[in-house]
Parts: sequence; structure tokens; C-alpha cells
Amino acid sequence: MVNDLNHLAIIMDGNGRWAERQSKRRSAGHEQGAKNVRIITEYCAQIGVRYLTLYAFSTENWKRPKTEIEFLMKLLSKFLKKELKTLKENNIRFDIIGDISKFSKSLQKTILHVKSETSNCTGMTQILAINYGSRDEITRAVNQAIKKGIEIEEKDIGELLDTSNFPDVDLLIRTGGDQRLSNFLLWQSAYAELFFTNTLWPDFSNGELETILSKYETTSRRFGAL
Ligand code: IPE
Ligand code: IPE
Ligand code: MG
Repeated sequence: MVNDLNHLAIIMDGNGRWAERQSKRRSAGHEQGAKNVRIITEYCAQIGVRYLTLYAFSTENWKRPKTEIEFLMKLLSKFLKKELKTLKENNIRFDIIGDISKFSKSLQKTILHVKSETSNCTGMTQILAINYGSRDEITRAVNQAIKKGIEIEEKDIGELLDTSNFPDVDLLIRTGGDQRLSNFLLWQSAYAELFFTNTLWPDFSNGELETILSKYETTSRRFGAL
């Protein structure tokens, strides 16, 4: 049996270590990581992935030094402005999950601009998880439900999450060698296939992705049934 791949999610970890290994500043690793986002995104669009979610900044990443956070915010803004053309050329729709109200007004404006400019693209959807944490997302969803005064069923929670317009994760990959989820898509990955690789994100290639995809395709996904 060959599994479809509707939704691929990636925890892009290891930028800092990639830079440190070459005696560069951590920021150089983030820059190289951002370049790799474009390469992997284009490849995923070409092979017919419908939804690609990339973990770029977690709710816990605010614990990092101010200088690194400021660098990441600038990089995100630069990346979005630069990518808009490529996204359109590749017919990729851009979306985000996470609470962007914590970002500067100008960054929020850029994010919403790229989202609206690509809203008519009909190819793959690229979703950046920024200031995203599953616990924060679920807490916000529960508060919305309380406000509406509705009794909760499983499907209601799904509909109140940031991912309400996207299917559950089929395949989740984490680069960088650690085998944990770090508060990423906990609800949505309930039946995801998990792959962990030691490769650091800036070195993660289309070739390695292809190898993982071929393993994924032949995995028996039972969803609790026989
Ligand atoms: C992942 O790389 C990117 C972000 C979390 C922003 P890291 O910055 O966590 O890199 P390592 O894990 O320290 O190598
Ligand atoms: C996970 O990486 C978050 C992102 C890739 C954006 P971290 O480097 O923040 O995760 P931990 O701290 O190792 O769990
Ligand atoms: Mg890390």
C-alpha cells in the first residue's frame, strides 16, 4: 500500500549547531536555514505535497537572548518580503499558525500581506509556525469555546485550533538529532508517522527527504484498526 502525503510537518532544528561547528555565529546558521526553507519548499511543491508546515519559532523561543530573537524577527521579515515572488511563481499559498499578535506591527503587516497576496494560489500551502506552541494554541481554542458557551466534542477542538483549515499531520520530521516534539502540533500529530534525523536543518537535503518519503510511503498506517 502506498500512503498519500497530504500534510508534512518539519521541526527545523540545528541551525545554531550548524554555525558553531564552523566557528560561525548562530545567526549564520539561521540565515543558512532560511535558504534551505526555500529549497525544501520548492521540492515539496513539485512532488505534490498539499500542506507543508515548518516550525520556525516556538512560544518557548522567547527564552533566548534578546539579540538572537531580534535577529530572527528581522530574518523572518526579510525572508517573507523576498519569498513572495517565489511563492507566487510556484503557485504556493502562504499561511501561518501561532499567535502573531506578539510580533511588531510592521512584521504582522508583512505576514498578512504575503498571506493575502498568495490567497488565490492553488498549489501547495506553506504554513509557517511562528510564536507557535501547541499548549498555547489549545488554551486559546478552549477559551474561544468557553466564550461561545459550547459543549466540546473532538471535532470542535479541531475547528477552534489554528490549523482548522488544514488536515492532520501525516508525516512529521525533526532534524538536529533530538527526539522530541517541543510543543509542536501535539493534537494534529496524534497519528502522524515520526522520523528523526541527526542531520542539522541547513544540511537537510531533498535527497534525504526523498529517502524518508519512500519509507513513509510503505509504512502500514492502521489508525487503531486492523
Ligand atoms: C532551530 O535551530 C531554529 C529555531 C529554533 C529558531 P536552533 O536555533 O534551535 O539550533 P540549535 O538547536 O541550537 O542547533
Ligand atoms: C524547536 O527547536 C523549535 C523550532 C525548531 C522552531 P528548539 O531548539 O527550540 O527545541 P528544544 O529547546 O531543543 O526542545
Ligand atoms: Mg534547537
